[in-house]
Amino acid sequence: MAEQRPPRSPGARDYFDRAATIIPEFTVLNYGFSSEPENTVISSEEPEFYCLRMYEHALGGTALNGCEVLEVSCGRGGGANFVQRTYSPQRLVGVDLSPENIRLARSRAALPGVEFLIGNAERLSFADQSFDTVINIGASHLYDDRTRFFAEARRVLRPGGSFCYTDGCWADDDCTEDLLDAGFELLERTEITANVLRALRRDSARRATLFDGLPDTKLREEYKHWAGVIGYRAFTRFEAGQTRYFSHRLRRPEAESAARR
Ligand SMILES: C[S@@+](CC[C@H](N)C(=O)[O-])C[C@H]1O[C@@H](n2cnc3c(N)ncnc32)[C@H](O)[C@@H]1O
Repeated sequence: MAEQRPPRSPGARDYFDRAATIIPEFTVLNYGFSSEPENTVISSEEPEFYCLRMYEHALGGTALNGCEVLEVSCGRGGGANFVQRTYSPQRLVGVDLSPENIRLARSRAALPGVEFLIGNAERLSFADQSFDTVINIGASHLYDDRTRFFAEARRVLRPGGSFCYTDGCWADDDCTEDLLDAGFELLERTEITANVLRALRRDSARRATLFDGLPDTKLREEYKHWAGVIGYRAFTRFEAGQTRYFSHRLRRPEAESAARR
C-alpha cells in the first residue's frame, strides 16, 4: 500500500504566520540572486536588493506593461510591489497561504492596481485564462503537490501567457518533465545555484542582524538555518551541492490540442 504523506500546507502556513509576527521587517523572503556585474535597474541602496534581483531575474525580458499578472505565494508582498513599480502591469494580484503574510502585505502602502488575497497555489480561485503572466518565486517546494500547482498555473494563464518560475530543490529533483506534462512550452531553464550563493554571501550580515535581535536563542538559530545565513543549513546545502536552484521561463502555447483546452 502506498505510504500516505501528511500534508505540508498547514505546517507551512503556521510557520510563515509565526515568522510574520516575530520578524515582520522583511518584505521579501527569497534567498536572492546576484551576478557579476549586477546588471540591474534596482538601486544598490535598496535594503532588499538581492531578493528583488531574484524577481528581476525571474521575469527576464517578460513584458508586463498593461498586463494582468498573478503572483502565487507572494509572501509579504515586497516582490509584487517591486514588480508593479518597475514593470507597470495593469493589475497585479498576489496570493499567499499565510494570512499573516497577507496582513503584512496589505499593511504597507497600497500601490494602484495591486491587491493581496489569501489562497492556495493548488486550488486557485480564478477563472480559466484570466492572467497574462504567473510569477512564482521560491515557494513550490512547500506545496503538497507541485504538479497540481503547475496545472493551476497553466489553467489561469491565457494562451501565449508567461510562467516565470524559480525554486530550490534537492540535487536529484528535476521538475522539467512535470512542467512539460502540465502543458507548458519551456523557453529557458537556468541553474542559478551559484547566483543564489553569491547573493546569500552578500546579504548574510543583514539577515543575521535581524535574527540576532531575537531574545529566544533557539529561534535565532532556527531562523539562521532557514534564511541561508553563511554557515547555516540552507546555505551549506547549496554550497555542498545537496540542493540546487533553478529558474524557468515557460509559456502556455497559443495553439493547443482539444484535449489540453
Ligand atoms: C519563501 S516564501 C517566498 C515568498 C515570496 N515569493 C518572496 O520571494 O518573498 C514562500 C511562501 O510560500 C507560501 N506558501 C506555502 N505554501 C503555499 C500554498 N500551498 N499556497 C500558496 N502559498 C503558499 C508561504 O506562506 C510563503 O509566503
